[in-house]
Amino acid sequence: MSDHSIDDRAIDTTGGKTKEEIAEAYRSEPWWYDVRGFFILLFAYNSSLGAMMRQFGPNYGSNHLEVACGTGTLLEMVLKWRKRRRLPPTRVTGVDYAESMLAGAVRRFAGRSDVSFQHADAAALPFATNWFDSANIANSLHCLPNVDAALKDICRVLKPGGTFAANVLLHPRGGWPLKNVAQRIDDWGMRKGILYTPYEKDDIRARIVAAGFELVSEEVSGNCYNVIMRKP
Ligand SMILES: C[S@@+](CC[C@H](N)C(=O)[O-])C[C@H]1O[C@@H](n2cnc3c(N)ncnc32)[C@H](O)[C@@H]1O
Repeated sequence: MSDHSIDDRAIDTTGGKTKEEIAEAYRSEPWWYDVRGFFILLFAYNSSLGAMMRQFGPNYGSNHLEVACGTGTLLEMVLKWRKRRRLPPTRVTGVDYAESMLAGAVRRFAGRSDVSFQHADAAALPFATNWFDSANIANSLHCLPNVDAALKDICRVLKPGGTFAANVLLHPRGGWPLKNVAQRIDDWGMRKGILYTPYEKDDIRARIVAAGFELVSEEVSGNCYNVIMRKP
């Protein structure tokens, strides 16, 4: 773990993008976003759709918050995964800061009363304290410019005992050539603005705990830190 305090690290010294620049970087055609996402999943995250279903699928209470939902592609897959397993129904609120992503999600779920969307910054959620039973953030914690504020606000809107699942991109691990390929994709993503920064596991874990969560489970798989947290 680095020896900075959490407060020091909350100050952006990376020259990273603002939330407006990040939202602009996500202004792409939904089909291109999905195709690009598949390659990033495989070669930068070294992960799979199956791993994501297992990470996010079980974590739905009756009132669920999907943070940084994007175009809703993954959310739709996870909800189908749950339906196939006859898991209990859930009411989902999705938020995203990129209007174009959100528009794709609204189109995808048009006509469904159990899923709704709102434009919101993950660090300033427009919801009451202790409101949601569960929250997920898929493939996105490392895209946020103010991760500490986002973690704190997600913790705020969860009910005590509410659970929160995330997968966080780590700095590339392993050997040549996969590590080099992942590094190139990460560098490109940061230049473009669709990735804010990958993390070291101990760094992101310390931020999670500082935001008020307790850890339920954690594992590193490929270049991802998969973590389930709970609001005490
Ligand atoms: C890699 S995409 C993941 C989308 C979706 N969760 C998925 O797995 O397909 C990252 C998402 O984070 C959103 N995002 C970036 N900064 C945000 C912020 N400050 N607040 C809310 N969403 C944000 C982007 O607009 C984008 O839709």
